[in-house]
Amino acid sequence: MAPLLALIGQLDEEASQPLYLQLQRGIRRAIEEKLLGPDDALPPERDLAEQFSVSRITVRKAIDGLVSEGLLARRQGSGTFVSNRVEKNFSKLTSFTEDMIARGRAPTSTWLSKSKGTVTPEESLTMGLSPGTPVYRFNRLRFADGAPMALEYCTVQAFCLPSIDTVASSLYSALEKSGYRPTRALQRLRAVLFNAEQAQLLGAQERDAGLLVERRGFLPDGRAVEFSHSLYRGDTYDFVAELSTPESEK
Ligand code: GLP
Repeated sequence: MAPLLALIGQLDEEASQPLYLQLQRGIRRAIEEKLLGPDDALPPERDLAEQFSVSRITVRKAIDGLVSEGLLARRQGSGTFVSNRVEKNFSKLTSFTEDMIARGRAPTSTWLSKSKGTVTPEESLTMGLSPGTPVYRFNRLRFADGAPMALEYCTVQAFCLPSIDTVASSLYSALEKSGYRPTRALQRLRAVLFNAEQAQLLGAQERDAGLLVERRGFLPDGRAVEFSHSLYRGDTYDFVAELSTPESEK
């Protein structure tokens, strides 16, 4: 990585914007333009102070702001790093693959299992399907740039796919090809603690915090397509929703 000074340029002492804000803006821009990538380490504060000819307090103030924005993370004993969290807009019906690509991360998955069956009593109730309805079950461990992000269990109505083997890297792109990609979904999110098996698969510790996202996806005619449980590592995902007042929607 080039020295930060080369990426950001000298700060301007004469400018009306305080030096710490100039430095903050420079680092933020370097992250947005991907000159700094997830997990890149920032030089120690005293080196940055020297590079930019400012006090360590100025550097600390700049970094503090970016840490509270979630763009940088301080790791005890090892320094400050560009955060590897992925931000997900909670109100868009997107797939894991699309979310990762939108963030400039490379999505991959490993298959834990793939099976054919019929709905369980719970699925029959939540998806509004008659007992005995054929489904496919997909269980994957999902990665971004090789780091484990989520453990995912999806149940899909069998009629939505020509065969169980048509799902390669993305379930939603397979559903799109067959004309059965969900266009509406209900989603529920809650905090959970990982059990030993989940923690091991996700490279976390037992009882670490996770986010469980359940999704029920539907076709335009109201038929259910998928029922999924995605268990995300709590330290790698930010869910973001845009809120508006009821008046502004009129
Ligand atoms: C998200 C959703 C799941 C959906 C999956 C599809 O993770 N929570 O409900 O099944 O995306 O992702 P992909 O198309 O990458 O397989």
